[in-house]
Amino acid sequence: MPADPSSLNVPFSVTFLHRLRMTNDIFGRDAAVLSDLIEPSEGRRPRVQFWLDEQVATMNPQLPQRIQAFCRKSAGCMDSSTKVQLVPGGESVKNDVHIIERILRCFHHADLDRRSYVVVIGGGAVLDAVGFAAAIAHRGIRLIRIPTTTLAQADSGLGVKNSINLFDRKNWVGTFAVPWGVINDRTLLTTLSDRDFLCGFSEAVKVALLKDAAFFRLIARSTGEICHRGDVCTSIIARSARWHLKHITEGGDPFEMLESRPLDFGHWSAHRLEALSGFELRHGEAVATGVAIDTVYSSLVHGLPRADAEAVMRCLSELRLLRSHTALQQTDDLFDGLEEFRQHLGGRLTVTMLRGIGHPIDVHEIDHDRMRQAIDLVVDRTAAIRQSDCL
Ligand SMILES: NC(=O)c1ccc[n+]([C@@H]2O[C@H](COP(=O)([O-])OP(=O)(O)OC[C@H]3O[C@@H](n4cnc5c(N)ncnc54)[C@H](O)[C@@H]3O)[C@@H](O)[C@H]2O)c1
Ligand SMILES: [Zn+2]
Repeated sequence: MPADPSSLNVPFSVTFLHRLRMTNDIFGRDAAVLSDLIEPSEGRRPRVQFWLDEQVATMNPQLPQRIQAFCRKSAGCMDSSTKVQLVPGGESVKNDVHIIERILRCFHHADLDRRSYVVVIGGGAVLDAVGFAAAIAHRGIRLIRIPTTTLAQADSGLGVKNSINLFDRKNWVGTFAVPWGVINDRTLLTTLSDRDFLCGFSEAVKVALLKDAAFFRLIARSTGEICHRGDVCTSIIARSARWHLKHITEGGDPFEMLESRPLDFGHWSAHRLEALSGFELRHGEAVATGVAIDTVYSSLVHGLPRADAEAVMRCLSELRLLRSHTALQQTDDLFDGLEEFRQHLGGRLTVTMLRGIGHPIDVHEIDHDRMRQAIDLVVDRTAAIRQSDCL
């Protein structure tokens, strides 16, 4: 049969490069790591603009000057004449669509183009908002992320998406965009509050449960050292980052076109909980609760051994991540999260559950009675934690 010339289906692929660097002092002795990521463009010095999470600037008052000193030293190979720009930290930056316009205007006033670099330093929320603006300006300015939270270093900073919240929905507007580079700097984490520091470990637990049972056991036996912010934290964050990177680069579906989104394990309820709590619950805490719920559900319905589910609950509570919140009692509202999760991707509902630790499965139906039971068990556990004053 001759091919129909009026109907062409032509597959094509594009190769991306994901660059992850790990440093100890990115605006000091490791500054070359950042300048090496900034490539000259046909002999011209590329323009570079720095964006900084306001809270990070408050906690590190010397940071803007250190960035400016870096810019002066690198003036031979880049043009970063605009001052360091500040944006509010935390979810508020993602809840105000007008901030995006302000960011875009700054890009425009600095004449940034597609060979320019936006360097964003901050928590996952700031990375998402500035990253979204960088992705839509000129259809994509090069983005270098310098994550400053454990969560962003262990997970979101490596991701190939960005977003802000709209219509009371998490991440309703956003794009897929591979960052030019990601620099995980260890010392930037030192000013994090204990609460925010521990939050990142929920995503490490999540990826360990999906991919690497030995990694989960390491986290579970290190909870005391993690709570004291000991050395083990660096290797756990790095291992979590590598797993996320591996999933994105080798998992076969970086732009989430298929129905399964395993890295969103526990997130159908987590995103809903964040919104229902008016963002009082941090993403990491909501994820810990969501992971706990789906782990217990997996033990009730999908054969995950009870002892494994108990080990996960113990690990998350020892990490002080299971916070009690009234949002958890709004079960019907919570179930709306399932439909939002389905609707975000389209097609049929696909949620990741566990058959064992390191053995994820996709399921397409949720038994609401069993899920209520799982939620109740997690609520009981979080209430018990509160009473024993662990938080
Ligand atoms: N794009 C993705 O693939 C992806 C994946 C997972 C999560 N996320 C998003 O990431 C966001 C959560 O990010 P997060 O957990 O990093 O928290 P966050 O960005 O909300 O930061 C928490 C708080 O810590 C402050 N902070 C950040 N770094 C600090 C530092 N070094 N010292 C002192 N304070 C600091 C922030 O200003 C904020 O007040 C959520 O919006 C979530 O949806 C995105
Ligand atoms: Zn997450």
